[in-house]
Amino acid sequence: MKTYLVTGGAGFIGSNFVLYMLKKYTDITIINLDKLTYAGNLENLKEVQGNPNHIFVQGDICDKDLVTTLFEKYDIDYVVNFAAESHVDRSIKEPEIFAQTNVLGTVNLLNCAKNAWERESGWKEGVRYHQVSTDEVYGSLGETGYFMETTPLDPHSPYSSSKAGADFMVKAYSDTYNMPVTITRCSNNYGPYHFPEKLIPLLINNCLNHKDLPVYGDGLNIRDWLYVEDHCKAIDMVIRNGRIGEVYNVGGHNERTNIQIVKTVIAYIHDNVDNTVTEDLIKYVEDRKGHDRRYGIAPDKIKEDLGWYPETTFEVGIIKTIQWYLDNRQWIENVTSGDYKHYYAKMYNN
Ligand SMILES: NC(=O)c1ccc[n+]([C@@H]2O[C@H](COP(=O)([O-])OP(=O)(O)OC[C@H]3O[C@@H](n4cnc5c(N)ncnc54)[C@H](O)[C@@H]3O)[C@@H](O)[C@H]2O)c1
Repeated sequence: MKTYLVTGGAGFIGSNFVLYMLKKYTDITIINLDKLTYAGNLENLKEVQGNPNHIFVQGDICDKDLVTTLFEKYDIDYVVNFAAESHVDRSIKEPEIFAQTNVLGTVNLLNCAKNAWERESGWKEGVRYHQVSTDEVYGSLGETGYFMETTPLDPHSPYSSSKAGADFMVKAYSDTYNMPVTITRCSNNYGPYHFPEKLIPLLINNCLNHKDLPVYGDGLNIRDWLYVEDHCKAIDMVIRNGRIGEVYNVGGHNERTNIQIVKTVIAYIHDNVDNTVTEDLIKYVEDRKGHDRRYGIAPDKIKEDLGWYPETTFEVGIIKTIQWYLDNRQWIENVTSGDYKHYYAKMYNN
């Protein structure tokens, strides 16, 4: 019976991971530590409400006493750190909280894990700290080439810089203390439970409400899209079988320009929901400051080492995703409404 401390498990990828893992394994326990910022929503975890293998704790990864108590109370085998401030635009406006949560929060988790796991003779058997990172730490690509695990880090935004800072601290705990760690760096995820400030759910929500669809610059910035369940599978494989001390890039080889994504969403909603939704809603806006031009991941290492591959093509994944938001309009309403968190916090007695 393995015990996971999953942080940020009420956010987009974290909640998908918790649901994926509890569906796949009946012999694990997940302690889910989440601060429930605007991006964390317990409604994402409704499916596992009442599941004795899921213990939700509302709290901050920067809180040393709380994290120490969790290590004392539970026999934790794995830490999987999703918790972060994750929105690049917000990081440009408020960089401090990104340094606080993403860098100092990671250091606190590493330190508490070290205190709990380190022995005179080495490290407790079978433990591992896993950091969920991003391809944005590598910076921006030109028209050709891909990010490899060996690509030097060259982050640009306060968000990506804070994630790179966290990665370096994880590496430092490995290099200095020999702590058993792994890191995954993935491309842009899409799928259910994505907070509607991010591109795909924002487009869907705006289309449904006949609002402008803002597109940065010329709309030709390229992102490499990864269906969230494929990402969850990759993290599970790396935690179980990835080589200690290694970084694994996770990407879907699904490069699309932003404007292609916008047009795909419009076309689906136009054809299936509301034929008054057209490309007239597109509104080009001033480019994001320091906007990286292209991200592209080479996932060769995780394929060769662990046999991981993305099962969901973009064509299938995007339809599944749009349809999920159409079927869950109440979820969008709830996560964007003010009373939401208070209500659910009471429901979970936190
Ligand atoms: N979404 C993507 O496309 C993407 C791509 C690459 C990497 N990542 C990384 O994956 C991780 C998860 O991303 P996401 O998109 O699910 O983010 P998200 O913003 O949807 O969720 C973040 C979660 O962390 C929680 N959180 C924030 N600060 C916290 C704190 N101090 N203590 C405890 N919990 C806190 C929030 O409440 C929320 O539930 C992040 O580390 C992010 O950098 C995301």
